Amino acid sequence: MLAVAQIEKAAEVLRNGGLVAIPTETVYGLAANAEDPQAVAKIFEVKGRPPTHPLIVHIGSADQLGEWVEEVPATAKLLAEAFWPGPLTLVLRRGRRVPLETTGGLETVAVRVPDHPAALALLAEFGGAVAAPSANRFGSVSPTTPDHVRTELGGDVDIVLDGGPCEVGVESTIVDVTGDVPTVLRPGGLTREDLEEVLGHPLAVPSATAVRVPGQHPTHYAPRAHVVLVETDQILTESELAHSAGRRVGVLLPPSLAGARVEAAAIVPVPDSQSAYARGLFKYLRELDEQGCDLIIASLPDERGLGLAIANRLRRAAGPRD
Ligand code: TXA
Ligand code: MG
Repeated sequence: MLAVAQIEKAAEVLRNGGLVAIPTETVYGLAANAEDPQAVAKIFEVKGRPPTHPLIVHIGSADQLGEWVEEVPATAKLLAEAFWPGPLTLVLRRGRRVPLETTGGLETVAVRVPDHPAALALLAEFGGAVAAPSANRFGSVSPTTPDHVRTELGGDVDIVLDGGPCEVGVESTIVDVTGDVPTVLRPGGLTREDLEEVLGHPLAVPSATAVRVPGQHPTHYAPRAHVVLVETDQILTESELAHSAGRRVGVLLPPSLAGARVEAAAIVPVPDSQSAYARGLFKYLRELDEQGCDLIIASLPDERGLGLAIANRLRRAAGPRD
């Protein structure tokens, strides 16, 4: 656990309009006072993120939701009670406390309660809400350790709260509850199956390439190396081809190929469990970059459970580049 003094210092930074990198169960966030347009402007500046991309507002508990949104529909109440604190973000009508700078000009706001003791302690000490996108530069891979944040953002943040490696490893699942039918805008750490069980009906999930949410581009979560997705049974031949063509190849090797002879510069064996894969995914992409790979070859996992979010991040990492 983090020392009380550090939490107090971080709350002071927030009150003074500064930036705090916070651990959450999903990924590290770059937090500022959600009610302070100037503090929020610093987030966009440090990330290099276009100002029209809305931020997620993090609050300390489900019973505070009404303070930040215009109304709490029954579905939102149901989901918040079932899953908060946890990797679920709800999109609702914006309450007056939330400035348009935080929502990227939208009349809706995304809200969640993070499931991490340090984030919850900070929110309690601060007393307000923090706007926090993932603590990485725009378009790159989300950080899941304090070292990732320090390496990428360095002196641009006032404090990095060290809460250890993130437990979930992929960002929250975003559900729009402003309409009659809840809609998944981004698959994430809370599975579609868990949501459907509580809602009592099936959910539509957008395809990974359809750009319909502000701030969700086809290329996101991308390492420096180019990512190429192939069928699992093509991984060995594709990597051998690229390797002999002189590429520096990194391979995310699925469990079904464990122990196979791979021609590549670097190999990351993908864990069998989906939760372990989700937890490690962004770290693997960073590691392959660090090892100087210019090409990463991977295949898509089974898209049930957390596999849906893993496949979504891999597709985006492999998306078209400028
Ligand atoms: O797990 C997470 O959600 C992490 C941690 C730090 O909480 N945060 C995160 O934030 O992933 P970020 O900024 O990387 O992604 C936020 C996304 C936006 O890109 C946008 O797609 C969606 O949330 N979003 C935010 N507000 C929205 C709104 N009002 N309507 C629709 N989508 C919204
Ligand atoms: Mg992000």
